[in-house]
Amino acid sequence: MKLGIAADHGGFELKTEMSKRLRALGHEVVDFGAHAIDPDDDYPDFVIPMSQAVSRGEVERGIALCGSGIGACIAANKVRGVRACLIEDAYSARQGVEHDNLNVVCMGGRTMGFELVWQLLETFLDARFSGAERHLRRLAKVLALEKECAGG
Ligand code: RB5
Repeated sequence: MKLGIAADHGGFELKTEMSKRLRALGHEVVDFGAHAIDPDDDYPDFVIPMSQAVSRGEVERGIALCGSGIGACIAANKVRGVRACLIEDAYSARQGVEHDNLNVVCMGGRTMGFELVWQLLETFLDARFSGAERHLRRLAKVLALEKECAGG
């Protein structure tokens, strides 16, 4: 899968380790930064360009990381067409994609151990949107709001 990944200093180490493992598995990983640890950097500077790439279809899915995953999630969801969520359990990692077509997973570099994060990421990547009528109907309602809010 072609994936975008982005992190501030709070998610930097997690991004490094994750990217390494994803590439070893054959995924194409586009790294939107940060490219070095800078305690003064800001997650929107990396997460927004990555989310825009998801929105434009330049990458299939995105991974947004910061210290808690929360700031990254808030920023990602401001980008049209992005459906991002903080994922900390396996049920949501799968169902978020199957029911809600989650396309950006957010995680915290300071909140979970790497092996748990990795399992959740694999679950997210393995999952596919159901395409069920009720799921499409709900998403259409979200999309309608997104359109209504265009331009503010
Ligand atoms: C950075 O110190 C931290 O605030 C940021 O990574 C993130 O956790 C925000 O949600």
